[in-house]
Amino acid sequence: MKKIIVKGGKKLSGEVSISSAKNAVLPIIAASILNGEKTTIIDAPMLQDVFVITDVLKSINADINIDRINKKIVIDTSKVISGEPDSELVRKMRASFLIMGPMIARFGRFKISLPGGCNIGSRPIDLHLKGFTSLGAQVSFGYGHVEAYASKLIGNKIYLDFPSVGATENIMMAAVLAEGETVIENAAGEPEVQDLAEFLNSMGAQVSGAGTDTIRITGVKELRSTSYKPIPDRIEAGTFMVAAAITKSKLRINGAREEHLNPIIAKLREIGVCMEKGENSIIVDGDNEFKHVDIKTMPYPGFPTDMQAQMMSLLSIVEGTSIITETIFENRFMHAGELKRMGANIKIDGRSAIIEGVERLTGSEVKATDLRAGAALILAGLAADGYTKIGDIYHIDRGYVSIEEKFLSLGADITRIEE
Ligand code: EPZ
Repeated sequence: MKKIIVKGGKKLSGEVSISSAKNAVLPIIAASILNGEKTTIIDAPMLQDVFVITDVLKSINADINIDRINKKIVIDTSKVISGEPDSELVRKMRASFLIMGPMIARFGRFKISLPGGCNIGSRPIDLHLKGFTSLGAQVSFGYGHVEAYASKLIGNKIYLDFPSVGATENIMMAAVLAEGETVIENAAGEPEVQDLAEFLNSMGAQVSGAGTDTIRITGVKELRSTSYKPIPDRIEAGTFMVAAAITKSKLRINGAREEHLNPIIAKLREIGVCMEKGENSIIVDGDNEFKHVDIKTMPYPGFPTDMQAQMMSLLSIVEGTSIITETIFENRFMHAGELKRMGANIKIDGRSAIIEGVERLTGSEVKATDLRAGAALILAGLAADGYTKIGDIYHIDRGYVSIEEKFLSLGADITRIEE
């Protein structure tokens, strides 16, 4: 069993480069099904989730070449068949469901295992399926699978009850080869949705309005080969910004798009963290007095739910009462229990966590309960007194490239062990 051990109390220094965004590259890999040709992804993040979704594509006969040294992935979908992907793999990672839109668009029919929920919530797919039916697909369920059939997809106007990132992406990908125009209203505006639209347009699609709550797609006959570099990971960048704050260190974070970081910058500034935007980098100085704040996670451009756990670690040692309200997922406070093992004073009341800042956290044996919770426990360990041993770190490897190497290069006392 692999574990990460962090010895707390050390200041960090230096600079760290941000990898490409997991939540941009996953839908982009799914969308490579649409052109039936070659797609090259440049500066791809070598993450566990990326290897899972490329294995899903291999299970439907895509040809994949992953060059880990040069961080390049070449995907050839010319021989993809409309067969059912490996259900073990699909259940392993919810984002695999993002291949449904491209597969219906290209083949007019597709059957896939229902994606697992995960521990942060039930993760329904009703909005994805509402989109596909609006475009003319017949959707049916049975034996743990969902199947869609469409002799032809016709553009339509679709209103999303909730600005779901995945549903917006799946519907966008289904609509690019549909006949006529599709309008997605109350669409998700996350940077990763914008990046997918850019990618689709680089293949010859006609997508406009991505980043706003109304996205228009005019169907085209076919899409072509492309090469593409995904956007940097705003959540990885935010995680290292919190690392500077929680250890009261000064760090330079390179490669992040500052316009994607505004909600995180605003909240950290409110706490008292000093930040200055440089050329293609941001300098974070956490050596300051902090004050408690309230946070409410919201769809972009609100405060991102994927940064909620990391902020809980920081606020656990900021004097006063802070309240975090999680509006996106129904069960995304499991890291609170782990932080309490480290001496944090947190009460959960429905969708809110009430945090009374304590003087210091103390090192303890804890477990990552999901990807971002794992990162939050590393952050807490950096500030805690003594050793923190983190289990179930496979969660962390799903979404962070070489996280301990990056922290080691900043001077952290962190190691990965095999127990
Ligand atoms: C994406 O998940 C991200 N994953 C998540 O990141 C992120 O937390 C989430 O967006 C919100 O920003 C990827 O991009 C691969 P949603 P997604 O559909 O698309 C409800 C991480 O840590 N909903 O926007 O699954 C759903 O229940 C991961 O990197 C429906 O009700 O998120 C949830 O409450 C975690 N019906 C809310 O919308 C649907 O059909 C947000 O889900 C779909 C979603």
